[in-house]
Amino acid sequence: MIESKNITEVQLDIEKIRADFPILSRKVNGKPLIYFDNGATAQKPKSVIDAIGNYYSNQNANIHRGVHTLSQEITVAYENARSTIQKHLNAEHAHEIIFTKGTTDSINLVASSFGKKFIFQGDEILVSAMEHHSNILPWQQVCEERGAILKVIPINKEGELIISEYKRLLTDKTKIVALTHISNTLGTINPIEELIALAHVKNIPVLVDGAQAVPHTNVNVQLISADFYVFSGHKLFGPTGVGVLYGKEKWLTEIPPYQVGGGTIKTVTFEKTEYADLPLKFEAGTPHIEGGIGLAAAIDYVNKIGLNNIAAYENELLVYATEALGKINGVKIIGTAKEKASVISFIVDGLHPFDIGTILDQLGIAVRTGHHCTQPLMQFYGIQGTVRASFAFYNTKEEIDLFINGLERAIKMLN
Ligand code: ALA
Repeated sequence: MIESKNITEVQLDIEKIRADFPILSRKVNGKPLIYFDNGATAQKPKSVIDAIGNYYSNQNANIHRGVHTLSQEITVAYENARSTIQKHLNAEHAHEIIFTKGTTDSINLVASSFGKKFIFQGDEILVSAMEHHSNILPWQQVCEERGAILKVIPINKEGELIISEYKRLLTDKTKIVALTHISNTLGTINPIEELIALAHVKNIPVLVDGAQAVPHTNVNVQLISADFYVFSGHKLFGPTGVGVLYGKEKWLTEIPPYQVGGGTIKTVTFEKTEYADLPLKFEAGTPHIEGGIGLAAAIDYVNKIGLNNIAAYENELLVYATEALGKINGVKIIGTAKEKASVISFIVDGLHPFDIGTILDQLGIAVRTGHHCTQPLMQFYGIQGTVRASFAFYNTKEEIDLFINGLERAIKMLN
């Protein structure tokens, strides 16, 4: 069971925070919006919206390509955004931060480039049973292309990785481990530092899918010693279409470029191309400039509140909602790990998650329903899908009360 963590010490000014998010004052189906789909994408504070607007109103130019003032100004701003991300993750170098389209793009980049260089016939790639499709499919593809084998670390019924099995699966054949930090479906927080240390004993690099972790917790890539750490901007209260690949310099230097084109080169002749140094080697084409700027604004915003405060407050919401859901007949929570982030998946006896989600929507409550891009996990639990409520720091206990009332109404209507 999850315990409250220093709840009484968490003093977030939620009303003030909510006022920073314009969308939270809108109505949906005539009811005030209750947004519990933060795992899919988080809402944006005004500072992020303004940073994007300001880019188009005052700063728009291409980066790394001009001597003119606008181009130089925005190049500095974009590289400052990279430094903001570097500091946020405590990466050693700014050039270890690669801008991508998002988590999926980052994983595809690593799978493709690492695969070309380091994966051969009979090698093994290790993923876990709780991975999002985005952290399965790129590896599956590499395995098909390179004749390698995908191995799966099993989980227990609570939704925790079975560490003894993980240790058993780490062998001389394992070339890389790809693991989620926090499960998007179960909310499980994996002991990532320990898992990475176990792989490193055998000199096996680890890619961490941090898409669901960065909105809820401080990440220190040097402390956990991640070889690759990836996430999306939009789940961290920033824009869609931008994401991050952190990679240790050593790995990013060794693996080949993913996509090539403008921006990735030092010199080109028809005979041969010399590629640029990090980070440009991995950033082909004009990037999502306002995305990088907006993501840095989002990071500044969450850092003003403090991720430790956010984690403690969200845990309070998690405990409150878990207790309330536990009192409703027929509700079963899927994912009961000891260490959980503010994500609750559940099923209701005899009812389809879509029907519940549809009725909640009529009440202005946004939840996600379905398999959450984790079909193998659904197969493990023997279910088609769940209803998932995922909370952010702007959510409140009052909203959870309304959600619980709405759910009880939905269950009555559907039975
Ligand atoms: N991966 C996102 C989710 O869990 C979209 O909802």
